[in-house]
Amino acid sequence: METKNQPKTPSREDVWKMFDQISPTYDKVNRAMTAGLDVIWRKKMGSFLPKGKDLYVLDCATGTGDQLISLMDNHPNIAKATGIDLSEQMLEIGRRKISHLPYKEKVSLLNASALDIPFPDDTFDCVTMSFGIRNVTSPTVCLQEIYRVLKPGGRVLILESSVPQTPVIKQLHLLYLRKVLPKIGGWLSAKKDAYVYLNETMETFPYGKAFCHLLEINRFSSAKMLPLMLGAVTIYYADKS
Ligand SMILES: C[S@@+](CC[C@H](N)C(=O)[O-])C[C@H]1O[C@@H](n2cnc3c(N)ncnc32)[C@H](O)[C@@H]1O
Repeated sequence: METKNQPKTPSREDVWKMFDQISPTYDKVNRAMTAGLDVIWRKKMGSFLPKGKDLYVLDCATGTGDQLISLMDNHPNIAKATGIDLSEQMLEIGRRKISHLPYKEKVSLLNASALDIPFPDDTFDCVTMSFGIRNVTSPTVCLQEIYRVLKPGGRVLILESSVPQTPVIKQLHLLYLRKVLPKIGGWLSAKKDAYVYLNETMETFPYGKAFCHLLEINRFSSAKMLPLMLGAVTIYYADKS
């Protein structure tokens, strides 16, 4: 039962439950909020995959699978891919989409946490995570887990929201995050609170050099970033030596 003091927005422990609720409209809202640009960002992320044949890729917080689908569509050198997420409803939508695709036998989606990845050490050539790391309870534990499951020489690729640095653009972007985005999310999903919460996490999560530093203090080497859309989102990549 709802009480007066209960927060409208979820605690970080419960954030995946919120994704269960918004799953039916998640893809539609994503496309609308980014004006379809997320498709381009996801494709760009694939250009940082490690070279080589027969790659084994893990996508953490895979949601409805769009990052995995983009990677599989554009990189036939991926032999096998697994997506993990805690929201069964998001995964179900992803499974349905993938079941129609030619590479369906190479991809599996599992209900599991990015904070306790159910794979042995040194398993994957690449671990990807799009718009996921700011939603986990401990980004540090998540990066440590990603490091553990990567093979030596493997690479982590992270796509995440960030805040533009140019003052005028920054103000316009914050206005968009605070005023416009929750309205679009609210109209299309009828769950405005969820999108208010998501926007707050976009503003407060470390980005740019601060996130590269987080990668490096968690043992990754050569952390680099590529800001896109004037810095509204950033791709980060780093290696396990
Ligand atoms: C904003 S969605 C991103 C989904 C997808 N990667 C994409 O690019 O559209 C964030 C996802 O993180 C998932 N999530 C939150 N905490 C998690 C955890 N500890 N382990 C795995 N997934 C988690 C949520 O269930 C949700 O599907």
